[in-house]
Amino acid sequence: MNLLSISGVAVLLVGIVHHVSGLETVFGVYGKTLEVPCNSGGAKPEKLLVSKWKYNTDDGLPGDLMFKKRNEEATVIAKDHYKDRVSMGDNSSLFIAAVTLRDQKIFTCMEVAGEAIDEYPVNVVIYKAPADLAISEKAEELEIGKLGKIAVCKAVDANPAANITWYKNDKILSGEGKGVVIDVSVQVDPDTGLSSTTSTLKYSAEKEDADARFTCSTQHLTAEQLVSSPVTFTVTYPTEQVSLSVLPEGLLLEGDSVTLKCVADGNPAPTTFNFYIKGEIMNVVDSDSFTMMNITREATGEYKCSLAEKPSLEASANITVSYLNMDPSPSDRVVKKAGESLAVTLNVEASGKYEVSWTKDNGFLKTDSEPVFKNLTYADSGRYECQVTMGSLHRNNSFQLVVEGSPVIGRLDKRRGKDSKHEVLICEAEGYPKPTVTWSVNGTSLDESTFANGKVTHKITVVPTANLTVYCTVTNILGQYVRGINVSSLFEEVRMDKQDQSEDGDQTKLVVGVVVGLLLATVIIGAALVYMKKSKQGSWKTGELENGSSEEEKKLEEKVEEGSQKADM
Ligand SMILES: *[C@@H]1O[C@H](CO)[C@@H](O)[C@H](O)[C@H]1NC(C)=O
Ligand SMILES: *[C@@H]1O[C@H](CO)[C@@H](O)[C@H](O)[C@H]1NC(C)=O
Ligand SMILES: *[C@@H]1O[C@H](CO)[C@@H](O)[C@H](O)[C@H]1NC(C)=O
Ligand SMILES: *[C@@H]1O[C@H](CO)[C@@H](O)[C@H](O)[C@H]1NC(C)=O
Ligand SMILES: *[C@@H]1O[C@H](CO)[C@@H](O)[C@H](O)[C@H]1NC(C)=O
Ligand SMILES: *[C@@H]1O[C@H](CO)[C@@H](O)[C@H](O)[C@H]1NC(C)=O
Ligand SMILES: *[C@@H]1O[C@H](CO)[C@@H](O)[C@H](O)[C@H]1NC(C)=O
Ligand SMILES: *[C@@H]1O[C@H](CO)[C@@H](O)[C@H](O)[C@H]1NC(C)=O
Ligand SMILES: *[C@@H]1O[C@H](CO)[C@@H](O)[C@H](O)[C@H]1NC(C)=O
Repeated sequence: MNLLSISGVAVLLVGIVHHVSGLETVFGVYGKTLEVPCNSGGAKPEKLLVSKWKYNTDDGLPGDLMFKKRNEEATVIAKDHYKDRVSMGDNSSLFIAAVTLRDQKIFTCMEVAGEAIDEYPVNVVIYKAPADLAISEKAEELEIGKLGKIAVCKAVDANPAANITWYKNDKILSGEGKGVVIDVSVQVDPDTGLSSTTSTLKYSAEKEDADARFTCSTQHLTAEQLVSSPVTFTVTYPTEQVSLSVLPEGLLLEGDSVTLKCVADGNPAPTTFNFYIKGEIMNVVDSDSFTMMNITREATGEYKCSLAEKPSLEASANITVSYLNMDPSPSDRVVKKAGESLAVTLNVEASGKYEVSWTKDNGFLKTDSEPVFKNLTYADSGRYECQVTMGSLHRNNSFQLVVEGSPVIGRLDKRRGKDSKHEVLICEAEGYPKPTVTWSVNGTSLDESTFANGKVTHKITVVPTANLTVYCTVTNILGQYVRGINVSSLFEEVRMDKQDQSEDGDQTKLVVGVVVGLLLATVIIGAALVYMKKSKQGSWKTGELENGSSEEEKKLEEKVEEGSQKADM
């Protein structure tokens, strides 16, 4: 009625007011401008004279907002707090700026067309997404199996009140789940009417929750989902088991250091332990380890550890210290005379079963017991290595045995060459260091064998033209040995006939021979000529046989008969 007096427009008081059935609701976003359409934005009546927006004040009184006459600008007729916030569009929509929850009420659009007055009430609802979502009052530790408040999630200043959902590792934690209790409370700000939701999570942790991430989130009607930053907790639980480990693992030897490590499965880990070392209790603080340096075989045994505050929780481990020592004799280089004896001993001290093997000269000889030398020979010389093995442990040692002795001639031999024209003399010497071999005559040196096992064999070829004694001399720093051998003229058989004549100096026998048979004589003379030619190569004077060797040497003819060498050997 106030409206009519203000507008000055004649409106029939008896006009019929139509209330459109069904209350339309429009939703506004807090703080923004809200358009409230008239008649749901429907077409305007043809004979529209006046449009007006009004509402009912809190006191139940009508409050006018906007007024518009046909073909005129709309005017603000509000006097209260709406007067600066409302406006009207050409299509009769009411615009309210900076809406708050106080604008949640029914606004009515009234249209006067001809004699009809239509009223379109519109319900306004204002939404507000929560300003913030955060976890607070986070517990530092979760004690396993104990239901306790672990955090609070708060979504502030929302309308309607925000719903909060809890997640553990991105999986929803339902309040109906085992060990989960969620308490929700909503506070309404008396000034703004906005609601703050507080969700308190009570949770009974398990061991696996040590790294679990907890988040809360809210999905509001008008905004993106808000997710809090994740929180994690230290999950504490008492020790139920301890174990004792020995480091390093595997074989322990005397002289090693060994560390006992007591591991408890509680969280936080206990810091004080008792170690039971050979009947003594060692209390270790702020460490779970006890180290023994330079252990001996006496360290072998059973060890225990326990929690200092709960000694009934204990663990044990056995330690075995292995050892493998040997005391070999001889252990380096030993020089002995041939024929002497040598005691070889090997004392082994071991913590377990072991095996011994001996090798000589890089495996040339192999045996599992120490060598016995009752009567050393040159062949015994060499490098002896013993190897003691116990599991993966090895010890070895070696000694060099040198058997020395002044040389002796073991064999002095002669062999006639196949063609009977030369003699091979063989002198076999034994001694150490290697003997040098010399002969009392000049012959053709055939060869010298390699020096092995103290033996060397020397051969020369001679062509003796008379019976004589040849001496072989063998020498090393320890002594000398000489032996002689008689060699006879190679031509005795051929000379048998001739010798008589020549010895007699009687040439008549030859002449007689010629007379006796010319044919025979011719043959004999032929043979004699051959001999004479040969004998001219050296003079053979038997009378000087016993005298000096230089004389004897002159009686030997050098002759190399390459072709027969091999056959003579
Ligand atoms: C009414 O007009 C305004 C512009 O004045 C426009 O933004 C709005 O969408 C219109 N509303 C309807 C329901 O047509
Ligand atoms: C909160 O949850 C209730 C029940 O699930 C639901 O009816 C309501 O719409 C939700 N509120 C919001 C703001 O999501
Ligand atoms: C280790 O112990 C042995 C025997 O007890 C001793 O002879 C040796 O000197 C010790 N070595 C060290 C490095 O302490
Ligand atoms: C240690 O050795 C003893 C005796 O041999 C045995 O009874 C015990 O079970 C062993 N302990 C461990 C942890 O192996
Ligand atoms: C040692 O061996 C040599 C050569 O085999 C032999 O002649 C000698 O009699 C032996 N000596 C002893 C004490 O057995
Ligand atoms: C003996 O020991 C030495 C050093 O420990 C090693 O180099 C050598 O190979 C060993 N000999 C054998 C036959 O194992
Ligand atoms: C040489 O020795 C042999 C026996 O071995 C003998 O028959 C011969 O008469 C000797 N010759 C000389 C010239 O002494
Ligand atoms: C070698 O000859 C000499 C004199 O001719 C003689 O005394 C000696 O016994 C002979 N030796 C051998 C081993 O035949
Ligand atoms: C043996 O031979 C050497 C060199 O060939 C010579 O100097 C020496 O005089 C010879 N000795 C004899 C007895 O012929």
